[in-house]
This record gives sequence, C-alpha cells and structure tokens, in this order.
Amino acid sequence: MSKVVLVTGGTRGIGAAIAEAFQKGGYKVAATYHGNDDVAKSFTARTGIPAFKFDVADFAACQKGVEAVVTQLGAIDVLVNNAGITRDTFLHKMTPVQWMDVIHTNLNSVFNMSRLVIENMRNRGFGRIITISSINGQAGQIGQTNYAAAKAGVIGFSKALALENAGKGITVNVVAPGYIDTDMVRAISDNVLEAIVARIPVKRLGRTDEIAAAVLYLASDEAAYMTGATLNVNGGLFMG
Ligand code: CAA
Repeated sequence: MSKVVLVTGGTRGIGAAIAEAFQKGGYKVAATYHGNDDVAKSFTARTGIPAFKFDVADFAACQKGVEAVVTQLGAIDVLVNNAGITRDTFLHKMTPVQWMDVIHTNLNSVFNMSRLVIENMRNRGFGRIITISSINGQAGQIGQTNYAAAKAGVIGFSKALALENAGKGITVNVVAPGYIDTDMVRAISDNVLEAIVARIPVKRLGRTDEIAAAVLYLASDEAAYMTGATLNVNGGLFMG
C-alpha cells in the first residue's frame, strides 16, 4: 500500500518540488499552505495533490489539519516540515514581531506537526520525519538572527527526537539547503545575491528538485540506518 506523506508549505517553492517528487515516487501526498489560495488552487489543479489550508504555527489549527489529512488519505507515514518564512533585518532594527513570527513559523511549527504524528508513528512502528533547515542555521547570515536561530533549532530538535524514537522504526533527519532558486532567494537584492552566488563553489543556485531528491532518499526504506543526520545540499558553500 502507498505510504502517506504530508508536506508543510507544499504548494510552492521547495515544498511543491518535494510534494511532486513523492507523488512521482508512488506516495499518497498531502500539501499544506497558509496564505496563497491562488497558488494552492493552481498547484492542486496541475498535480491533483490536495492542499490543506492551516497555520503550522498554531497547534490547534495543526490538530484539525492533521485530522483532515488522516481522514482523507490515511495515517501519516512521512512528515516533511518544510514551511518557512523570512523576516530579514539586522538585529538592531528587528521588532519582537519579526523575531516571533519566524520562531513560530519555522521552529514551533516543527514541534506542532511532529508532536501530532509521533504517537501514531510509534504505535505503528514506522515513521519518517524530515525537516528542512538551512545553511544559514549552520553558518549564520547577515539579517537573519531570527531565521538562523530557528533553523539551527530544528537540527537540535531532530537529533533529540531521533534518539527518542530510534528503537521504534522511526527516523528523524534534516536537509539543509543552500541557496535554491525560489521566490525566497529571488527576493534578495541583486547585488547581495550576486555576491552570494559568486561564493558558491558550484557557481549557481540550487534547484528545488535537488532538495526533493535528498528528502525522498531520507524517506526511503534504504535510509533506515540514517537518523539524526543533516544532509547538506548547498553546492559546497558550507561543509559542516
Ligand atoms: N551577504 C553579504 N553581505 C550582505 C548580506 C549578505 N547576505 N546582506 C547584507 N549584506 C551587506 C550589504 O551588501 C551591505 O553592504 P555595504 O554597506 O558594503 O553595501 C550591508 O550588508 C547592509 O545591507 P543593506 O544596505 O541591504 O541594508 P538594509 O538594512 O537595507 O538591509 C538586510 C539589510 C535586510 C540584511 C538585506 O541586506 C538583506 O535582505 N540581505 C540578504 C540577507 C540574506 O542573505 N537572506 C537570505 C534569504 S534566502 C533564505 O533565507 C533561504 C535560505 O535558507 C538560504
């Protein structure tokens, strides 16, 4: 029987590439989104992948959302925590709202979603939790104290959760993308982005399908011995 995968922030950018790659791999896929109804509608129309609208930063909303996915597709075998935002600004200009928005959406969401699937995975003796971190949680980045804190936080979270569940058939891993060709990266001003790309050893932005391939591997049966790991997919920009 096909495994069920839930991809948060799965209707565009890296998340959409992940969702589509799982679909091609024969999984039953659900995507979540929060804001952009038009993009979600055209994503579902194009792929047939259902999109569930809820805020991953809100535990009660996640509870309802996960219930809806389970009712429609079945118990979740693979959770991909991908949803994320940036609110880039120097710390000396950052507001408490800019700090909290990023921590809620990029870090607390990983607690919310993982908490809601982990008991069932433990009961069934199988599960894969894969969280999208970032090179900027490993190496830091100007304007991203909030984002770097959240993206580093998910790495520690995943290691602890991996230990807790290693004997239960559940693996918990992280993919840390570098600069990938998405709206988020394209929003960086041209001169700053040019300077970043010039420092990438592979000399180009990454592609969303290159991140999806790493996620699919971690979800596979072949990756059963890999847990608590962080896969860097960053064109050589950071080798941790
Ligand atoms: N790398 C190197 N230098 C940077 C930089 C970066 N990422 N970001 C800013 N700088 C430099 C600027 O070039 C500028 O230098 P000069 O004074 O020598 O010209 C200086 O810092 C100040 O920058 P700004 O003039 O742009 O100042 P600002 O207050 O208007 O904006 C900022 C500051 C919000 C940090 C803005 O520069 C910015 O958005 N920078 C990009 C930050 C970034 O790289 N974000 C990553 C987004 S992609 C992502 O997050 C996905 C992922 O996981 C990889």
